[in-house]
Amino acid sequence: MNIILLGPPGAGKGTQAARLVEERNMVQLSTGDMLRAAKSSGTEMGNMVAGVMDRGELVTDEIVIGLIEEQLTTADAAGGFIFDGFPRTLAQADALGVLLDKVGKTLDTVVEMRVDDSALVKRITGRFTCGNCGAGYHEEFKKPRVDGVCDECGKSDFKKRADDNEESLKTRLMAYYKETSPLLGYYYAKGQLQSVDGLASIEGVAGSIAGALDTVS
Ligand code: AP5
Repeated sequence: MNIILLGPPGAGKGTQAARLVEERNMVQLSTGDMLRAAKSSGTEMGNMVAGVMDRGELVTDEIVIGLIEEQLTTADAAGGFIFDGFPRTLAQADALGVLLDKVGKTLDTVVEMRVDDSALVKRITGRFTCGNCGAGYHEEFKKPRVDGVCDECGKSDFKKRADDNEESLKTRLMAYYKETSPLLGYYYAKGQLQSVDGLASIEGVAGSIAGALDTVS
């Protein structure tokens, strides 16, 4: 099954994608993670996008479509792909359709995660990740079992994202409403859109997503 998780910054896309990877053997394609990896390894493309990302603006369609194309043609995804943070513009959505056709795959459903803007600030400013294995946490909603120690790898090397501040979040939200929210109508018109309450607990959202996926499996 190939799905898109669609929602504003902090909606919980990455959190739920990680669960689907564990539970359903799916492959997560997060353009945000790919771009951050390029940025931290200092590639030419990473250096080019660093400032854009830190300010919360969108990277060009050409770059992100190229990243997705590379993964779609090389990754082995028996359980299917989860598109997390892609597509984000109508041009990206059109390109995804073309790329999926090219590799003989289809998009099964798009799950919108609905969250109020007021909840996003708290989610974004409280987020941190393990610098060693990338596991995601939150100061209030998802603390490590042992304070200061990663549940997954046991290291104590936590970090925060450069764009996880109120100023960048404003720009990211504006980009979401201007460029990404039109995708809701785009996929609704194709009969592929489902919507879940992203304000529920992490477990509750996971249950709603499982219900949405059951309708297409
Ligand atoms: P990207 O990495 O995609 O960031 P984003 O869309 O802003 O989404 P986030 O990762 O911030 O949020 P999320 O929905 O994954 O939430 P999470 O699960 O972590 O993109 C970053 C940048 O890269 C962009 O600004 C842009 O510059 C560039 N970029 C990326 N893709 C691009 C594209 N396609 N085109 C152009 N540019 C692109 O959850 C957040 C926090 O809340 C966590 O701490 C979590 O523990 C907690 N939480 C999650 N769910 C719940 C819950 N149900 N209840 C309570 N807490 C919860």
